[in-house]
Amino acid sequence: MAFVPSIINPLGQRLQGSCPINWSNKMQSVISYPDRGHWGDPKWRGNCSGRVYQDLFDQLQPKTFADPMVGSGTSVEVAKEMGIQAWGLDLHSGFNAIADSILLAVGQQVDLCVSHPPYGSMIKYSGSVWGSEPHPGDLSHCSSNEEFHEKMQLVLLNQRDATKPQGFYGTIIGDYRKAGTYTSYQAEMIARMPSSELAAVIIKQQHNCVSDARSYAKLTLPRIQHEYILLWQKKSAPILMLLGAMAKEQYARLTGTWKSIVGLVMQRLGGKANLDQIYHEVSRAAPNKLAENPNWKAKIRQVLNSTSLFRSSERGVWMLAA
Ligand SMILES: C[S@@+](CC[C@H](N)C(=O)[O-])C[C@H]1O[C@@H](n2cnc3c(N)ncnc32)[C@H](O)[C@@H]1O
Repeated sequence: MAFVPSIINPLGQRLQGSCPINWSNKMQSVISYPDRGHWGDPKWRGNCSGRVYQDLFDQLQPKTFADPMVGSGTSVEVAKEMGIQAWGLDLHSGFNAIADSILLAVGQQVDLCVSHPPYGSMIKYSGSVWGSEPHPGDLSHCSSNEEFHEKMQLVLLNQRDATKPQGFYGTIIGDYRKAGTYTSYQAEMIARMPSSELAAVIIKQQHNCVSDARSYAKLTLPRIQHEYILLWQKKSAPILMLLGAMAKEQYARLTGTWKSIVGLVMQRLGGKANLDQIYHEVSRAAPNKLAENPNWKAKIRQVLNSTSLFRSSERGVWMLAA
């Protein structure tokens, strides 16, 4: 495969005013580095190409950088070589990014804080890559995807806390297919962090994965050969305001589910139906949802009245809006 030069795109943003980082617009949203460079340890399972950090630093020009899951040290080696003050933390040396404050460990807010967590349980770190036993704080030993998503949300908020206003925080993460289930960690992270701060989603081609050497006789779906670099830009909003905005977004998604249920049954009913027909069809389509909400009929009426997705042509009769 031909070498594609490293390129990243931050949605064309150029930072203004007192922003500590100069976003110079050299990079684009798809990157590929067949050669990982000399930084870090190529034998460290799940290590990252130093070129990712090299290009990120070149692009963002941070003066200070922190990596709360530094692994074999790739990111910090690149940073130091480029004259950037850098801190590398990791569970293997006693720092737990879920429970310990990055800000307190580093002692100051940084321009850029990027993590590279385990991709769920794809590679187990404590007890395998380092240490003799599994560590309870190890993200690669979560007992479920939900536990991983919740803990990673805390890690990202921790990173945000350690980032200067207008600086960037982010993560490098891949997707995982196991026993027929596809988990998109990046989609969960984007959904769980403030949408107003999402700054860039970069897709990186993966090279030299252990799974490349395996053959999956029954695999009918495309082999995963990419990962993501997600970047958020910290706005000045106080954390409580931010959490309030995030809760509002989650609530909108929940009511969005009701809208989808009602929309789906309206489709099944030919796009036009009276209230009794809608109640009947919803009760067949979503029995669990109804068990959670004793006022489900009122909820349906509220949904019908609260969005431009539906309109009433005559009393009690509803249509999907064109
Ligand atoms: C994918 S590796 C990082 C590889 C690194 N970028 C490199 O190039 O060597 C993930 C790292 O996350 C660390 N880790 C797992 N859970 C952690 C936690 N709760 N806090 C801090 N580090 C953690 C693991 O010890 C492992 O070193």
